[in-house]
Formats: sequence, structure tokens, C-alpha cells
Amino acid sequence: MPVLRSVILGLSQNRSLRNFCERSRVGQRLSSRFVAGPAIEDAIAVTQALNSQGIAVTLDSLGESVTSEVEAHHAADVYHRLLNWIASSKAQAHISVKLTQIGLNLNPNLAQSIAEGLARHAREAGSFMRIDMEESRLTQITLDIARRLYAIGDLRGSVGVVIQAYLYRSEGDIDQLIVEGIPVRLCKGAYKEPAEIAFPRKADVDKNYLRLAGKLIESRCQPAFATHDGAIIKTLKHLAKDSRIYRGRFEFQMLYGIRRDLQRSLAARRYPVRVYVPFGPEWYPYFMRRIAERPANALFLARNIFRS
Ligand code: FDA
Repeated sequence: MPVLRSVILGLSQNRSLRNFCERSRVGQRLSSRFVAGPAIEDAIAVTQALNSQGIAVTLDSLGESVTSEVEAHHAADVYHRLLNWIASSKAQAHISVKLTQIGLNLNPNLAQSIAEGLARHAREAGSFMRIDMEESRLTQITLDIARRLYAIGDLRGSVGVVIQAYLYRSEGDIDQLIVEGIPVRLCKGAYKEPAEIAFPRKADVDKNYLRLAGKLIESRCQPAFATHDGAIIKTLKHLAKDSRIYRGRFEFQMLYGIRRDLQRSLAARRYPVRVYVPFGPEWYPYFMRRIAERPANALFLARNIFRS
């Protein structure tokens, strides 16, 4: 892993820096590049704007690693409010949830029962809950919980999970998830992982992404391809065409604020596109992962701040 990326990912875990940035005005201005805003209303406004351009959304109420049961329920309440709005507005919107935000580190049973409540509400709202994937020590428990929810008959079709192409184990996980029929979002992976468990070279991650994506396309299990990588997207379009996979059977997903040009051009060509829209006051770890992916972002943002 390049040194700069590793340093920035290390800083993404720093509590004091996080407190300072999340409270500072400059920090809040910087975060607006990748985050819809601090309030639920900001997320709703962005969703409406994207939906009006033919782009669907998945909403992420930012926050991870809560330290009490009360905080876990509070995090879930925000999602329940969103799902109420999705149901009443008929917005094209799903939710993306991190299990550590609903208590995974405190008690996996707590996280599972809160997740089940959210999945049930998503189903009633005509929406869908994607369980985001966090660092590798949580991969197995995250998959276990996704499987348990999926096994509850009436939640099929309302729950999906994420697989990270940088992990060596992911090919085996994808094979199994395909057999089970669980919908997968495939991403490259955003955390700091050791070479014993993850491909250290980007070229190998990209190669694995395409290998896993090929399997998902063949599976016809409603895969979501989460990437801004133009070359990969081009290959996937060809693969889907060659395999005669109808466009509604898969979707491209991208992050709010990244490659907006590509998001719009894919939507204009009638490819299903969903944008991941994060919001909320706890934006620091998410923001730092976006900087780590492309450290040039830091310079670009700093220049804009000092110019304005
Ligand atoms: P790559 O990093 O190779 O970038 C390809 C191109 O995209 C770059 O050349 C640049 O043009 C553009 N780009 C990428 N990142 C950028 C940035 N930060 N700023 C500006 N331009 C950028 N990860 C995870 O571990 N668990 C998860 O649950 C999810 N969920 C998720 C959902 C969605 C919808 C997306 C799009 C991504 C995730 N991720 C994630 C993050 C993912 O693992 C990965 O870190 C980023 O998507 C960046 O990887 P790319 O595939 O875009 O390729």
C-alpha cells in the first residue's frame, strides 16, 4: 500500500483530529465535497435532485463504532425516519448501513436485531437495506448477519451485502453468496489491510475486481458494481452485453461528489445508476477514506478553501 494512503488511513482513526475537524467551520466546508450536509433534510434535498436526473440513491447516515446501546438505537432512528420519508415520497432510495453503527462492536445480537428492524421497515417502504462492509476483522460476522437476515423468508429481496475485491477471501465469499442468491455490491475496498489478507498492489485489486464482477454478471443475482473506474465500467458494459444481461439486472454505483460526469453520462445512456449519499455531522472517517483514495483531493480542496 503506498505510504501516503496508509498514513491518511491511519489519521482517519485519530480521535482528536476527528473532534477538531468535525467541529471546525473549515472542516465542515471541506466535507461538503463528499457529504450531502449535516442534516437529514440535506440528504433529502440531494436525493430529490439526483432522482430528478434519473439517478437512484442509497443513503448513508454517517457514523460508525458506537459505544452504547442508546447510540445504536439513535443511529437506527435516523434510518427509520429516512424510510418513512422514502415510503411517503416514493423516492428512488435505499439505505446503506454499517453494523458497527448499530452496535456490532458492543454485541452482535444487538446489531442483528436492529438490522432486522431496519430491513423489515425497508421492505414495507418498498426500499432495500445494503449492509456496508467495514474492516476485515468484521468480514465474517457481517456476512453471517446478512445471511441470517436473508434466511428470514420475507426479507429476501430487501437485504444485500458488500464484497471487497482487495481481500483474497472474496472469491470464495462471492461463490457462496451466488449459490445463496444474496445480492452483492462489489467494491475495491477502502480500509487499511495487511498483505497477508489483501492484495497490496492496485493492479491486482483491479484484476480481481473484474474476475469477481464476471462471476456476478453470470449469476444474474442483481449485482451492484460500485466503482468510478472508467476502464472497469467499460469492460463491464461489454461483459453484460456479451452475456445478454438486461440493463435492469445490474446497476452501477458511485459516491456522491465523485465522477459526476460519469454518473450522468451512464444514466443518460439508460444504465441504472445509484449514488451513495452520505450525510450527518460525523463525517470525518468517511471523508478521510475518500482523501486516502486520491491524496490529490487534499491539495485540490485546500487550494479551493484558500482561494475563496
Ligand atoms: P479507484 O480508486 O481505482 O479509482 C478510479 C477512478 O475513480 C480514479 O482514477 C478517480 O478518477 C476516481 N476516484 C476514485 N476515488 C476517488 C476519490 N476519492 N476522489 C476523487 N476521485 C476518485 N468500500 C468498502 O470498503 N466498503 C463498502 O461498503 C463500500 N461501499 C461503497 C459503495 C459505493 C457506492 C462506492 C462507489 C464505493 C464504496 N466503497 C466501499 C469504496 C470503495 O471500496 C473504493 O474505496 C472507492 O470506490 C474507490 O475505488 P474505485 O473503484 O472508484 O477505483
